[in-house]
Amino acid sequence: MKSAIVTGASSGIGLKICEKLVNMGFKVYGFARDFSKTQYDNENFIKVNCDITKTNELVEKVKKINKEEIYILVNNAGVGFFGPHEELNPAKIHSMVATNLEAPLILTNILLRDIKKSQGFIINISSITAKKISTYGCAYSATKAGISHFSESLFEETRKYGVKVITIHPDMTKTSFYDNANFKEADEEGFYISPETVAEAVEMALSQKSGTVITDITLVPQKHKIVRK
Ligand SMILES: NC(=O)c1ccc[n+]([C@@H]2O[C@H](COP(=O)([O-])OP(=O)(O)OC[C@H]3O[C@@H](n4cnc5c(N)ncnc54)[C@H](OP(=O)(O)O)[C@@H]3O)[C@@H](O)[C@H]2O)c1
Repeated sequence: MKSAIVTGASSGIGLKICEKLVNMGFKVYGFARDFSKTQYDNENFIKVNCDITKTNELVEKVKKINKEEIYILVNNAGVGFFGPHEELNPAKIHSMVATNLEAPLILTNILLRDIKKSQGFIINISSITAKKISTYGCAYSATKAGISHFSESLFEETRKYGVKVITIHPDMTKTSFYDNANFKEADEEGFYISPETVAEAVEMALSQKSGTVITDITLVPQKHKIVRK
C-alpha cells in the first residue's frame, strides 16, 4: 500500500487532505501536536503526535515509519501571527519560521531519497500571501514566499527523477487558522474557500496522467472581503 505523510493533520486543510488521501486508497501518517480536537478516525489514518519544530523529535518519529513506502509528502502545518511587525515578538517570529519553512525543508531532506525512488509527490501548502505584498503579515508571508521558492527550485532539481513538486497557494480558507487574528474571512458564501476545496486540488494534482505535472495551484474565492472581528 502506498503511503503519505501529511503535517498539520489534526484540523483544517491538513485533516481534509488526510481524509481525501485515505479515500483515494493511501495509508496516511498525519503529524500534529494535538489530536484531541480531531473527530476523524480510520484504520489507514495513523495519528503521529509530533511537534515538527522539534527537529530531533521529528527525525525520530519519521524513523519509525517505513520510509520506502512513502509516495506523498504534504507539508501543510503552519502558524500565522499578524499585525504591525514591531508588535510581533521573537517567539512568534521563530514559531512561524520553524513551522512554515524550516520543518518542511528538513522533512523533505529526510524523505527525498525515498520519494525519488517511488517517483512520488511533494505537495507544499503555501499561501496567496507568498505572491503579493502582505501588510501586517510581513513575516508570515516571508515564510510562505520561502516555501514557494523552495518548492519551485526543488521541482527543477528533481523533475528528471520523476518527482512531482506541487505548490498550492490558497487564499482565505475557512479553518481555525485566524482564531488569534483580529480579522477573518467574511461569513457569506463566495468570500472564502473551504478546506475540502484545497483537498480536491490535491486530488486533481495527484490525478494527472503520467508525464504532466501541475506545479502551481492558486485558489481564490469568487469575491473578496475581509472583516474585522
Ligand atoms: N486558512 C487559511 O486562510 C489559509 C490560507 C492560505 C494558507 N494556509 C495554510 O494552510 C496550512 C493549514 O492551515 P489551516 O488553515 O488548516 O489552519 P489550522 O486549522 O490552524 O491547521 C494548522 C495545522 O498545523 C498544525 N501545526 C501547527 N504547528 C505545528 C507544529 N509545531 N507541529 C505539528 N503540527 C503543527 C496544527 O496542529 P496542532 O495544533 O494540533 O499541532 C494544525 O493541524 C497552513 O500552512 C497555513 O499557513 C491557510
